[in-house]
Amino acid sequence: MARKKITVVGAGFVGSTCAQRLAEMELGDVVLIDIPQTEGMPAGKALDIMESGPIYGYDSKVTGATSYETTAGSDVVVITAGIPRKPGMSRDDLLNTNAGIVKAVTEQVVRYSPNTILIIVSNPLDAMCLVALRTSGFPKHRVLGMAGVLDSARMRTFIAEALNVSMENVHAMVLGGHGDTMVPLPRFSTVAGIPITELLPKEKIAAINQRTRDGGAEIVKLLKTGSAYYAPSASAAEMVEAILKDKNKILPAAVYLEGEYGIDGVFVGVPCKLGTRGLVEVLQLNLSVDERIELQKSASAVRELSAALK
Ligand code: NAI
Ligand code: 2OP
Repeated sequence: MARKKITVVGAGFVGSTCAQRLAEMELGDVVLIDIPQTEGMPAGKALDIMESGPIYGYDSKVTGATSYETTAGSDVVVITAGIPRKPGMSRDDLLNTNAGIVKAVTEQVVRYSPNTILIIVSNPLDAMCLVALRTSGFPKHRVLGMAGVLDSARMRTFIAEALNVSMENVHAMVLGGHGDTMVPLPRFSTVAGIPITELLPKEKIAAINQRTRDGGAEIVKLLKTGSAYYAPSASAAEMVEAILKDKNKILPAAVYLEGEYGIDGVFVGVPCKLGTRGLVEVLQLNLSVDERIELQKSASAVRELSAALK
């Protein structure tokens, strides 16, 4: 059986760590791409990752390049290319700079891999997904955004800590846009199947929800020079695995909604079944009125930001 091929665009912190995880999970051969100005950097990181193979026991081939020929025929492409916000830059500056980058990257990717599935990681996430969808012309089931897996993993960590239970027992559901308006859903977050609303007091749940919303900022504050990448790369790799192994795994992901949850024409994080075709279906949770309002508010924030795309 031919190996699967996965391209990761952007060989920075998230991209290179993601390439490492994909190789260690032996999900296929991995191509790591960055801009020409980075010269040998992606090739150097790729070789370094491949040279861990004998120790970890994987045979994934990992190559790095600054042009797209080597990406041809990729089954999945993870896009992490972009710049982080710098002092003096407005949110809109970042939006349009990264939109230009995601557009240019998507054009190249699609040229060499017209049947691939795109997983977008670059921020602002939900708006960048829209750029990739429009640029690629792909059907919506082949353009997915990574945020919900990460936000839920953060919430799971805090729940496991609060109850002193194994992370493996904890599931959590965080929907909405990848920003301040994200919607943690305690009623759908469980420990060994029991909703946390039955296990933790209201105030503790409120604190966990808020720490989840602030999860990205908490890491930035500690790191000072960049943002999170270990959990983000693990989250993207989990989505790649669900697709390449056709697992039909339910994961929160940003997808283009057309009426689901009363939301239309934007990318928003919702529970999705992921398999070979990318998005297999959106799961419709039976949300309370308050939960539904919060999700729609979050969708409005994403819509506003997406509308600022030039
Ligand atoms: P980084 O700065 O370490 O890496 C970004 C890489 O992209 C750099 O190596 C840069 O040279 C490359 N790049 C820039 N323009 C490019 C182009 N046109 N083609 C190919 N490569 C290009 O940043 P890091 O920490 O890896 O983050 C990457 C992106 O992911 C950021 O936008 C960040 O905000 C976002 N992010 C999103 C998360 C999510 O939950 N969706 C979580 C963590 C990060
Ligand atoms: C995060 O949530 C920066 O979006 C990134 O860590």
